[in-house]
Amino acid sequence: MEEEEAAAVPAARKLQLSVAVIGHVDSGKSTTAGHLLYLSGALDPRQLQKFEAEATQMGKGSFKFAWALDRLRAERERGVSIDLALGRLHTRRRALTLLDAPGHRDFLKNMLTATAQADAAVLVVSAAPGEFEAGVSRQGQTREHALLAYTLGVKQLVLCVNKMDLAEPPYSQRRFEEVVRGVGLFLRKIGYSLPAVPCLPVSGWAGDNLALPSQKMSWFKGWQVKRKEGYGKGQTLLEVLDSLLPPVRLSNKPLRLPLQDVYKIGGVGTVPVGKIETGILKPGMTVSFAPTNLSAEVRSIEMHHEPLEVAFPGYNIGFNVKNIAVKNLRRGHVAGNSRNDPPAAAAHFIAQVIILNHPGFIRAGYSPVIDCHTAHVTCQFAELYEKIDRRSGQKLEDSPSMLKSGDSALIRLIPRKPMCVERFFDFPSLGRFAARDLKQTVAVGVIKSVEKKSTGSARKQVQKALLI
Ligand code: GTP
Ligand code: MG
Repeated sequence: MEEEEAAAVPAARKLQLSVAVIGHVDSGKSTTAGHLLYLSGALDPRQLQKFEAEATQMGKGSFKFAWALDRLRAERERGVSIDLALGRLHTRRRALTLLDAPGHRDFLKNMLTATAQADAAVLVVSAAPGEFEAGVSRQGQTREHALLAYTLGVKQLVLCVNKMDLAEPPYSQRRFEEVVRGVGLFLRKIGYSLPAVPCLPVSGWAGDNLALPSQKMSWFKGWQVKRKEGYGKGQTLLEVLDSLLPPVRLSNKPLRLPLQDVYKIGGVGTVPVGKIETGILKPGMTVSFAPTNLSAEVRSIEMHHEPLEVAFPGYNIGFNVKNIAVKNLRRGHVAGNSRNDPPAAAAHFIAQVIILNHPGFIRAGYSPVIDCHTAHVTCQFAELYEKIDRRSGQKLEDSPSMLKSGDSALIRLIPRKPMCVERFFDFPSLGRFAARDLKQTVAVGVIKSVEKKSTGSARKQVQKALLI
């Protein structure tokens, strides 16, 4: 591998990456992520013992690792993840934020929020009898999550075949290969290059191949990746995570920081948190928030409770701003540098969408919820410009009167409430979205152009209108 011989990198210089853990409900995402946090030292044994005692008391002993991430009472009672949860983990060369996504389709919005921030994804697929089959069925989430990850620009994927201890027979090589083949088929259709997807058999529960090579799968000769940046191989999931490539991020682009949450902290004040997508943030800078246009000076920046003098793309940070009340900021707003191409509300935008699931026909006027970066806003499909062949990209039909599942089209969308989006080409993670309706993902899309709401003078607006 590119830096194979290098010793562990000091924490401050490790590359920061966010990794979403995705897959069908109950495939073992939280258990695998929680166990990995434990084995890597991010979760201490006393905490785990506490989770175990509490989980056992509720008759849910098998969820002790999952509880490291499933912290909500409702999650623990029901035994499903609801919100996305963060775990921090250090490998030799990487500082990772694990984003544990819920698998249940009721909480797809939270899965999308996780995936929209991720640099890479681990797709967890259960090898237990019947579970792999349920996950890849039409109702299953395995395929849907993989397609969403791809469409949302997450091009590095890891396939974890989990619950190998429950395979029949346990730790069966045949079962592993069957699952890899089955999932590989649709990963290729979606657009993933299979040689670039490391595949490995694990047990999130028993710990096989998470941090140490399993004694029970001596037939497994290790995972491999071949990609244009180089070749990699190893045995465990921890090694896969250590080999992930840093995203190509542009620090010299204008700042874009979609807010994930906003806190009011006693003695400090308003603290928005989120991940920097492009640009840099420093204390003393004046940031401007879209779509509200409010601006404020940054007092201080923190990452994992440590102050920072400068924050770069990929950093998950909290920053304290002067003179803005918590109620004026929220998840989905985007912070930028007020002096360098600040973000703005979109009046409307043009996108290429792929219709995934819709029982009938979609016509102009249809208004699903659009999940873009951390925002969730209803937008109207105002105009259907052309239907496109999904594979070749060729135009099939001008101004189609309707669209159905499987179609791809160029359309214009109008947000019903103020919203900030960008062109995928300029700011990829602010330029990809999913459209939801009827509790499912109706469509996914990539933004080709954006018409910003004019905030200029009346004179400028008139001039602009005259040009049209
Ligand atoms: P959602 O977040 O609700 O989609 O589920 P999840 O994918 O996070 O699954 P979770 O980790 O909550 O695990 C579901 C159940 O499967 C729990 O009872 C786990 O103990 C069990 N489980 C997970 N991984 C394994 C495994 O490798 N082996 C065995 N035997 N059980 C597992
Ligand atoms: Mg979970």
